[in-house]
Amino acid sequence: MENVDGIVARALEAFSAAQDPAALENAKARYLGRGGELTSLLKSLGTLAPEARRSAGQAINEAKAQLEAALDARRGALADAKLASRLAEESLDVTLPGRGRGRGSLHPVIRSWARVESIFRSIGFDVADGPEIESDWYNFTALNQPENHPARSMHDTFYVELNDAQGTPLLLRTHTSPMQVRYARMHRPPIKVIAPGRTYRVDSDATHSPMFHQVEGLWIDEDISFADLKGVYTDFLRRFFETDELEVRFRPSFFPFTEPSAEIDMRFDSGPLEGRWLEISGSGQVHPSVIRNFGLDPERYIGFAFGSGLERLTMLRYGIDDLRLFFDGDLRFLRQFA
Ligand code: PHE
Repeated sequence: MENVDGIVARALEAFSAAQDPAALENAKARYLGRGGELTSLLKSLGTLAPEARRSAGQAINEAKAQLEAALDARRGALADAKLASRLAEESLDVTLPGRGRGRGSLHPVIRSWARVESIFRSIGFDVADGPEIESDWYNFTALNQPENHPARSMHDTFYVELNDAQGTPLLLRTHTSPMQVRYARMHRPPIKVIAPGRTYRVDSDATHSPMFHQVEGLWIDEDISFADLKGVYTDFLRRFFETDELEVRFRPSFFPFTEPSAEIDMRFDSGPLEGRWLEISGSGQVHPSVIRNFGLDPERYIGFAFGSGLERLTMLRYGIDDLRLFFDGDLRFLRQFA
């Protein structure tokens, strides 16, 4: 039958022209679907004479089988092509070196910070945090350094062109000592706290940086003496440096907010720094006027405070000789502490 051969030829062409499964299914519908050309032909068989009907029926069935086989083959081919293109697109060179993952680590000063916190916590000190932009009152006046006090000149700092709610000037705190006042005004004795954090001064050379870290310590109660300061601080240093082979010396000094005041020096009994006295901290018995600014009666409450440099402690612990290394961000330096 001419007709059947023509339909088969066009259907095969349409199948192979289909570039995706949807186009192929459309072509299938056009020839093999319910209203498709081959199906219509099959339906028209009833109009033929029995003899012609048989041979025509056979031809149509063969054509149908041929088209179905072609359809399956084309389906398979399209699926293979799709997989092949996906594989090509997502190809992976397993021989490339890995990208790796940069692992961060703690800065050595932050390590010391955490270490100081854990040592003081273990002997019952609270840990407090306060503002780096501080009022002139907390930073100086409340600590017995009224305006024009000469000791202020050793703490030149960066002033902020804003006043706080009370109208006092704001500045970048020059030490963590204002935290003594802030904390004491919010807690009842016994007061036992450290306050580590960033501090700022207009200073920059091999041993000074405009931003540096301090840790403040304060213990106030009815009977806290200089002997307690000596015991607590000496014990702290031994634990921080993990050695009993060090000596501690309290050298008379001056701070407006402590009386008496002392510089705390230490000396290793062995190691590369053996025999050299190194200044570690300011300290002293809290001045009665400052106790009053805490909102407490200086006749009843007494205690000590200290303020230590975290960079200094870190340099001694790791044997670092230039403060600037802490702030350069040089990975060759920082990786040594990872
Ligand atoms: N705040 C002082 C400084 O920065 C250190 C200090 C703290 C001294 C507490 C005495 C008591 O130099």
